[in-house]
Amino acid sequence: MTAPESRDHNVVTVAPQNPSASAYDVRIGTGILANLGPDVCAVVKRCRRNQPAFLIVDDTLPDEIISTATLSLEAAGFAVTSADITASEKNKTLESATRLLQQLASTRAERTDPVIALGGGMVGDLGGFVAATYKRGVPIIQCPTTLLAMVDASVGGKTAVNLKTETGLKKNIVGSFWQPALVLADIAALSSLPVRTLRSGLAECLKHGLLCATFDIENDLFGWLCAQLRAVFDQNRTAMQELVTRNVRVKATVVRTDPHELDPAGGRALLNLGHTFGHAIEPLVDISPTVNPDDAPVQHGEAVALGVVAAAYTSVALGTMHADHAEAIRVAFAKAKLPTRVNGLPSDDALLETMAHDKKMSGGTLRLIVLDAPNATDELGRCCVVNDPPREAVVAGFDAIRGA
Ligand code: GLY
Repeated sequence: MTAPESRDHNVVTVAPQNPSASAYDVRIGTGILANLGPDVCAVVKRCRRNQPAFLIVDDTLPDEIISTATLSLEAAGFAVTSADITASEKNKTLESATRLLQQLASTRAERTDPVIALGGGMVGDLGGFVAATYKRGVPIIQCPTTLLAMVDASVGGKTAVNLKTETGLKKNIVGSFWQPALVLADIAALSSLPVRTLRSGLAECLKHGLLCATFDIENDLFGWLCAQLRAVFDQNRTAMQELVTRNVRVKATVVRTDPHELDPAGGRALLNLGHTFGHAIEPLVDISPTVNPDDAPVQHGEAVALGVVAAAYTSVALGTMHADHAEAIRVAFAKAKLPTRVNGLPSDDALLETMAHDKKMSGGTLRLIVLDAPNATDELGRCCVVNDPPREAVVAGFDAIRGA
C-alpha cells in the first residue's frame, strides 16, 4: 500500500429509489485507504473526542494495508479498536459475530460510532451483520480488498452469517439488509491478491456484463472486459479502476431498482445468474477446477463461471439463447482463465437435489436465471427468470460443464 492517495478516483453514488433511504458513495481509486479517517469523519456524526471506531480486519491482509487504515483513522481523531478475523466460511458464524459484538460493546460504542470492515466478502458480510445488530444499527464503512468484494459484496447492503442446522450448514441464511455509509475500494489492495482470487472476481464481472442490458445499462461491460483481460492480469491500475467502476455502476443500478430483492420479474435476483448451478458445485469439496486435485475445492467465483456456462446451455435448450452465444460465453470465461468444465461431478439426480435445496427455490419450485439472446445477431446482456424449468434443460446445463 505504498501508492500515494490519489483524489482523482471515481465515485459512484448508490441512490436508493426510496426517498427515506440514504444514498452513499462508493469511492474507487489507488491509495484512497490513506484518506479513510477524513472520509469516515465526513459520513458519521462527530459527537465526542476520541470517538470509538471499530476496525474488523482480515488477519491475512498485508500489515501495510491494516496500518494504512489504522493510522488514517487515528490521525482523524478516532480511538481505534481492531478485531482480527480469519476470512473463511467456517468463521462466518453467529459465534464469530458474538465475539465481535462483545469486543465492540467493550469499546462503549454508541449509535453514531462507526464499524469498518477491511477485507474480502466474508469480512464485509460479517462486519455488516455486527454493525446492523449492535444497538439496532451503527454505521458500517465497507473497505473491500478483493475484486469480488469491490464489485459485488460491498455494495447493496447484504449482511450475513452462516448457520449450522440439523441438515447441514446453511450459507448466509441469517442476516439483514444494512446499507453502508460509505464504500472505499482501494485498487492498490488488489496487487496483493493471489491470481486465483483475482480470477474468481472476474467471474462476477463477466456475469455483470451478461445482465446489464436488462437494466438499460449501456456500458458494454462484457465486450470491454474481454478486450481488457491482458491489462487486468497485468494489474494495470487504470484498467483495474475502470473495471471496478463499470461493475459498481451495474451493481448500484440493480440494487437501486430492487434493494430488497423483491421484484417478481427478477430485479436484484438476476445477480444470481449462474449461482444456482454454482451452489450445487461449491459443497463438493473434492472437486478440483483444474487437472490438479490439490486445487480442490472450487472457489466461489470458479463455481459462478461454471454456473454461468451451465445456465447458458440451459438457455439454449430452452430456446432463449442461440448456441453461438453459449459458445462465446464459454470462450470468454476460458480466456479469463476460469473453469468451464469440471471433472468428477456427481449424477444429474444428485445435482438436482442440491439445487432443489438452494435458497433461490421459490414456492417449492426451482427458479433459474437464464440468458435472453435467441438470435445470433442479438447483443448479449439480457437475462430473465424461468420458474420450474424442464429437467432436460437443466441437465443440458450440467452436460455442458461435465469434464471428459
Ligand atoms: N451478491 C448478490 C446481491 O448482492 O444481491
